[in-house]
Amino acid sequence: MANGFPQMTNILRLSDIEGGPNSGDILCSIEDIEVGGAKEFSYRSGIEIHDIFIQRQEGQVFAYVNVCPHAGMPLNMEQGQFMEKSGRYLMCHTHGALFQLEDGLCVAGPCNGARLQSVSIRLEAGKIIVD
Ligand code: FES
Repeated sequence: MANGFPQMTNILRLSDIEGGPNSGDILCSIEDIEVGGAKEFSYRSGIEIHDIFIQRQEGQVFAYVNVCPHAGMPLNMEQGQFMEKSGRYLMCHTHGALFQLEDGLCVAGPCNGARLQSVSIRLEAGKIIVD
């Protein structure tokens, strides 16, 4: 624990979820996500629910578990809306925490210094693939 909040530094591998996608599976194409937008996915394994999102920024994509380290809420309130107005940071819409897109580090708000849990994906030839 740092700053009183759990540090979700580990990476979620979707292929580790029972019944989840396999390594190498295609989740979607980058064209399926509008620039500045995000696509959400949800996987269930027994009573566990893994909600993730993939945020597109120009030609790059970033994937995180959709759980805020502050109070465990989903970051978004509207489907696919994770960025704050400037388009620089991911924002938790519950209490306004801001997170760096590149590494999920919270740089402002009630969980400053905590991190989103990242999801292991890769982008190949325009396809977003389970790593
Ligand atoms: S639950 Fe995200 S900032 Fe409070």
